[in-house]
Amino acid sequence: MKRFLLSVLCSVSLLAHAQQAPAPPATPQYRPGYHFSPAAHWMNDPNGMVYYEGTYHLFYQYYPNASVWGPMHWGHATSTDLVSWKEQPIALFPDSLGYIFSGSAVVDARNTSGFGKDGKTPLVAIFTHHDPKGEKAGTHTFQNQSLAYSLDAGKTWTKYAGNPVLKNPGIQDFRDPKVSWNEVAKKWIMTLATKDRITFFSSPNLKDWTKESEFGEKLGAHGGVWECPDLFPLTLNGKTHWVLLVNLNPGGPNGGSGTQYFVGSFDGHQFTPLNDRTKWADYGPDNYAGVTWGNTGARKIFLGWMSNWEYANQVPTSPWRNATTLPRELALRQVGSEIYLTSQPVKELAKLAQPVVVLKNLKASAVALDLTNRLKFTGDKFSLNLSTAQLRDFALVLSNTAGEELRIGYDGKARQYFIDRSKAGPSGFSAKFAGRHTTPRLAALPAADLTLYVDATSVELFGDGGLSTGTELFFPSKPFTAIRLEAPEGMTMQSLAYSQLASPLPKPAD
Ligand code: FRU
Repeated sequence: MKRFLLSVLCSVSLLAHAQQAPAPPATPQYRPGYHFSPAAHWMNDPNGMVYYEGTYHLFYQYYPNASVWGPMHWGHATSTDLVSWKEQPIALFPDSLGYIFSGSAVVDARNTSGFGKDGKTPLVAIFTHHDPKGEKAGTHTFQNQSLAYSLDAGKTWTKYAGNPVLKNPGIQDFRDPKVSWNEVAKKWIMTLATKDRITFFSSPNLKDWTKESEFGEKLGAHGGVWECPDLFPLTLNGKTHWVLLVNLNPGGPNGGSGTQYFVGSFDGHQFTPLNDRTKWADYGPDNYAGVTWGNTGARKIFLGWMSNWEYANQVPTSPWRNATTLPRELALRQVGSEIYLTSQPVKELAKLAQPVVVLKNLKASAVALDLTNRLKFTGDKFSLNLSTAQLRDFALVLSNTAGEELRIGYDGKARQYFIDRSKAGPSGFSAKFAGRHTTPRLAALPAADLTLYVDATSVELFGDGGLSTGTELFFPSKPFTAIRLEAPEGMTMQSLAYSQLASPLPKPAD
């Protein structure tokens, strides 16, 4: 929680400074083309993601007065295809109960809350009210859960007069409610982050909450505070398993923020994991606070915040700061005796592909193979997929005329995919930024496939059908315009497919 105070103090002094200092120069070259980011100012966690009447709603932690973290609002964007996003007016503003921290939204189709009127279905947002005055005063009860509802399909929101609906029992970190209807309990189940535990609550009407159980003692990673949980079922070979996502900061697998998960069962009261192994939804440093969309049926679509609290307030973009990851479809896969979560870019992204160049039976060796012309490599927004029957050490190297390079590849000895941004551009904005980050290869077979999505300043790596994923930011001083392949022991790529991707999102000036 110290972090919040520090961030607030830091943003206040930055704001005071901003009044005299001119705004930093705009960085249109860093603007993502197909990852959502508000046109200007600060964003962090995705919130309240819910699908309703053909529209995907994405709310998010937003500070509309500066490009650093500050008093939190819920920004709002909508999409009908998960690819093009339209920024909407701010949905929730801070009030006398505090800032609007992270949370979720549900479609209350049976009007259990009683918020529905004249046959209109209420969308109900369940969020944390964070009271900065209580925090400053040193109380432990400054985070409480509250409600807001919309009767016009998410356009406008009314806060419930009886807020907060779930009061803090004296736990300093008590936040980020994720609510969904549970068919077994026949109740709403809230999954709440409580210090470094998850507490489950149930309610018949979203207003009255009863504690069901706690989870997390001696299980999983505890290097920091648990935040932004999610609980949902997925089916594997006809059997339903429950997945519990638990975001953690700090203590992630590659430093700072990270998303761990547990696979197990949920009986309507209690979550029981299959075993005590710690698993990560994404090993890269830049995928945090991710949860899934509500009301999408059996399809589970995940979206994260593409940054890390280690440097999110310092990354060199202007006039916006931070973006989301790609929307990803989640599934389960068994490898040996373990069940893992896989994530793949949603199929809707295929519509962005410009003509694809496919190279077959490409033989790589220790002598770097320049692919720039063969792939007609241009631009900094593309997807690349390679498959091989025999995975060996290799590196795909993106480079620019300033001598900077981003290396992405596989290290057979360590059985790890890697992304190395240590020479990918200036990193003086944070000592924690530069580095080489690894993602364990979980697949057991020699045959491998790897998909990369690059969007100006980010790369998302999906290895072996999404079994190993890593997300990483980089900020080159010039766009990468060349690509080469290195394979010290030799390696044949059965196919390497490259496609430039269209940018459906508006530029800040549009
Ligand atoms: C996660 C988080 C949440 C909190 C929000 C505040 O990144 O710390 O726990 O609700 O950000 O902006």
